[in-house]
Amino acid sequence: MPQLIVTSPQGDVHEINADANTTAMVAIRDAGVDGLLALCGGLCSCATCHVYVAPECAGMLDDMSDDENELLDGVARRTALSRLSCQILLTEARDGLRLSIADEN
Ligand code: FES
Repeated sequence: MPQLIVTSPQGDVHEINADANTTAMVAIRDAGVDGLLALCGGLCSCATCHVYVAPECAGMLDDMSDDENELLDGVARRTALSRLSCQILLTEARDGLRLSIADEN
């Protein structure tokens, strides 16, 4: 059961014990953390599940797909650490992954 550590846009830190092979978006939503709209439900078509990966965790993730990259081009505050949380699969190898929900307001 990989642990995901998420910081909300308000700065609250949540430690989530997620089911393996679920996405970070689903784990964050199911944990009731505020701030992640995820309007398309994980279909990689809205970019409202934008998160920042902690710098020390960036190497834990695979390269993003062209679709994810193109969607992130449309967000207001993209950085080199931006990802779409619906495209991050939580595995045991990603135990301890730290993400911050982007504040899009
Ligand atoms: S939930 Fe829509 S792109 Fe991730």
